[in-house]
Amino acid sequence: NPAPLVDGFNRRVSYLRLSVTDRCDLRCTYCMPERMTFLPRAEILTLEELYGLARGFMERGITKIRLTGGEPLVRRDVISFVKTLGRHVGSELDELTLTTNATQLAQHAQAIADAGVKRINISLDTLDPETFQRLTRRAALPMVLAGIDAAQKAGLRVKLNCVALKGINDREIPHMIAWAHKRGCELTLIETMPLGEVDQDRADHYLPLPAVMDDLDERWTLVPSTHTTGGPARYFDIAETGGRLGMITPLTNNFCAGCNRVRVTATGQLYPCLGGGECVDLRRAMRSGDPQGNLAAALDTAMRIKPERHHFRIEEAGAKPAQPRHMSMTGG
Ligand code: GTP
Ligand code: 5AD
Ligand code: SF4
Repeated sequence: NPAPLVDGFNRRVSYLRLSVTDRCDLRCTYCMPERMTFLPRAEILTLEELYGLARGFMERGITKIRLTGGEPLVRRDVISFVKTLGRHVGSELDELTLTTNATQLAQHAQAIADAGVKRINISLDTLDPETFQRLTRRAALPMVLAGIDAAQKAGLRVKLNCVALKGINDREIPHMIAWAHKRGCELTLIETMPLGEVDQDRADHYLPLPAVMDDLDERWTLVPSTHTTGGPARYFDIAETGGRLGMITPLTNNFCAGCNRVRVTATGQLYPCLGGGECVDLRRAMRSGDPQGNLAAALDTAMRIKPERHHFRIEEAGAKPAQPRHMSMTGG
């Protein structure tokens, strides 16, 4: 049996975040500049190559795969890929899932659920149409809301991802939590991370989540929960709403000690850490004479070089990102 993936800090890696495209139909201001340069299609792995990668990872004990982007649903053939991977749910995979902006989820939710996906994470930073347009530079809120509806109708559990942004959605956060919980969705707040140049200084909108927690504590009873998804969030149950709140705090409360994941870009570059460090070229391995053998060796290299933690800082860095890569390359 091939060895499971364990890094130099004795952390078992069981969670693969696999980006299927760097493209997106939105332009969230904290994520991308308006004029974003996307990769030429020829650089992107084919579905066969992506599946070969996924199989190589599953052989090494990956039990959770999350498809990311960019926006995964803008890749034309992504649903057939979800179906292919879905055949491994219940055997190698405990969980197959996606992170999506939901603009096209209404068309795809049922097929995704039928493929074996049980829950899905949806990015939603605001419920206000004008704020949505300002933040994503597109007027797509109605489509997103229809996508959330469709996901729930298809029986998918929905978790909303909300990047907390000072002066943009901070005053709306309690309302968003109440709205999410009322309709049976979880909601996770995220601190903005300094990845890739955007048209603004992220420090201007950076909102540390401990401050948000203090505010929420005055309103509600937040009970720390032992719930875990194998992701970076810490969870709280809110007594009054009956719902669950997640907190992803890369800046104020580093969670890297428990890291169990790696991410692969749509071109097959494995980034052992979101915070940077070297990447490992899995595409070259996949296109070599011995794909599975070279892939296994590349995964061993990745485990050797996986850093202990990221060193994100926003206030000091100012407009300059800690990482030149955009989130849309690595999918987070
Ligand atoms: P669950 O399976 O529901 O726990 O999902 P998740 O939180 O792992 O995935 P999702 O795609 O919803 O990501 C939410 C946020 O967590 C995004 O902003 C990601 O960039 C961020 N994130 C995920 N993994 C890491 C990580 O290893 N390090 C850091 N700093 N952020 C991460
Ligand atoms: N910092 C934090 N979260 C980000 N996301 C995109 N860019 C950033 C950033 N710079 C979020 C998206 C999505 C998730 C995959 O990552 O809103 O919910
Ligand atoms: Fe697209 Fe996601 Fe980036 Fe927004 S955060 S622009 S939805 S990739």
